[in-house]
Amino acid sequence: MSITQFKLGQAIPLTDSLTIELIKARDLSEIITMLDDPEVAEYLFFAPSPVEVYQGFFNPIIANTAEAISKGQWPENITVVIRDLNGQYMGMAGLPAVMFMLGNFEVGYQLPVHAWGQGIATAACQFLTHLAFSELDAHKVTADCHISNTGSYKTMQKCGFVHEGRQKDYYKLANGFDDRVHYGITKAQFQAL
Ligand SMILES: CC(C)(COP(=O)(O)OP(=O)(O)OC[C@H]1O[C@@H](n2cnc3c(N)ncnc32)[C@H](O)[C@@H]1OP(=O)(O)O)[C@@H](O)C(=O)NCCC(=O)NCCS
Repeated sequence: MSITQFKLGQAIPLTDSLTIELIKARDLSEIITMLDDPEVAEYLFFAPSPVEVYQGFFNPIIANTAEAISKGQWPENITVVIRDLNGQYMGMAGLPAVMFMLGNFEVGYQLPVHAWGQGIATAACQFLTHLAFSELDAHKVTADCHISNTGSYKTMQKCGFVHEGRQKDYYKLANGFDDRVHYGITKAQFQAL
């Protein structure tokens, strides 16, 4: 029932104090404000960016999501927004399909600083992982991040993702380099949780 409402574009409970819904045009300004925060962008290769870059990335997703909702279908790249019960923006997460790879999805999450440390990324990642395996016929969900981004890989670990690899010096930093870590979960691993 809830997933049906979610697919129709309605906000549904994520936890007792949070809702989750598919992205809408009205969410974009809060997403851009979040991505422009240097603390949030520390480990993001796509932020900060000029506003036209954000618009060029998100507007097609928002348009595709609106069209999918109107047809009762899943969007091509599921992107969700999380709010508290007062409507305060608490973050976003995404489950893009891997291009050309049927059944492969990637998960990602970004929260404004005021929302950190409350289990929200874990709840969002669990929600999207469940959605991938129960609704989207996924056989594999993956994610990757900087080795220094402890909050990000611990979120994956808490959701049952397995450490699958590490690329040395993948990210160039102002001073030196950072490794990239890869995490993933198969349908069988998810069903065994
Ligand atoms: C990374 C991020 C999504 C984590 O979100 P969050 O809601 O605070 O994470 P959770 O509360 O679900 O915590 C998950 C685990 O990570 C740990 N954690 C979270 N932030 C941490 C940090 N900065 N340092 C160390 N551990 C951290 C939590 O303690 C928890 O582990 P525990 O239960 O064993 O204590 C959030 O900090 C963020 O949006 N950062 C900026 C954007 C970003 O880097 N996104 C990921 C890109 S790959």
